[in-house]
Amino acid sequence: MKPAEIFNSISPDKLKQNPFQLIGNDWFLITVGNREHYNTMTAGWGSFCVLWNKAALTTFIRPSRYTFEFAEVNLFFTLCFFGEEHRKTLSYCGTYSGRHVDKVTECNLSPVEIPDE
Ligand SMILES: Cc1cc2nc3c(=O)[nH]c(=O)nc-3n(C[C@H](O)[C@H](O)[C@H](O)COP(=O)(O)O)c2cc1C
Repeated sequence: MKPAEIFNSISPDKLKQNPFQLIGNDWFLITVGNREHYNTMTAGWGSFCVLWNKAALTTFIRPSRYTFEFAEVNLFFTLCFFGEEHRKTLSYCGTYSGRHVDKVTECNLSPVEIPDE
């Protein structure tokens, strides 16, 4: 399936959620790479902001994370927010490294490739 068949586009200024709740309490997955070679990890640090009239979200990835290696060589990444029913998945992806486990298989995730813009 194509991303447009799965996701709805929402303008950033229409978001209703509290950013502190979203980032600090709900957490999210940062995923970087391409269909063949990628990694995902849980994040709970970040900031929503506006830079030169553009909505932006800053994330912080420690250099020791496997995901950091992907972020170093890829221009784009995705941030995915989930409902409370996926808390276990977020805990798992924030505890185990993609260097040692296949998080997508372990958590039964369904990756979707989004073409670079
Ligand atoms: C709730 C939670 C939030 C986290 N937030 C971050 C974060 O913002 N930045 C970061 O570098 N690591 C964060 N971590 C740690 C990484 O998710 C964790 O080290 C993960 O195993 C790295 O996976 P990787 O080696 O496959 O990249 C967080 C972990 C948890 C459980």
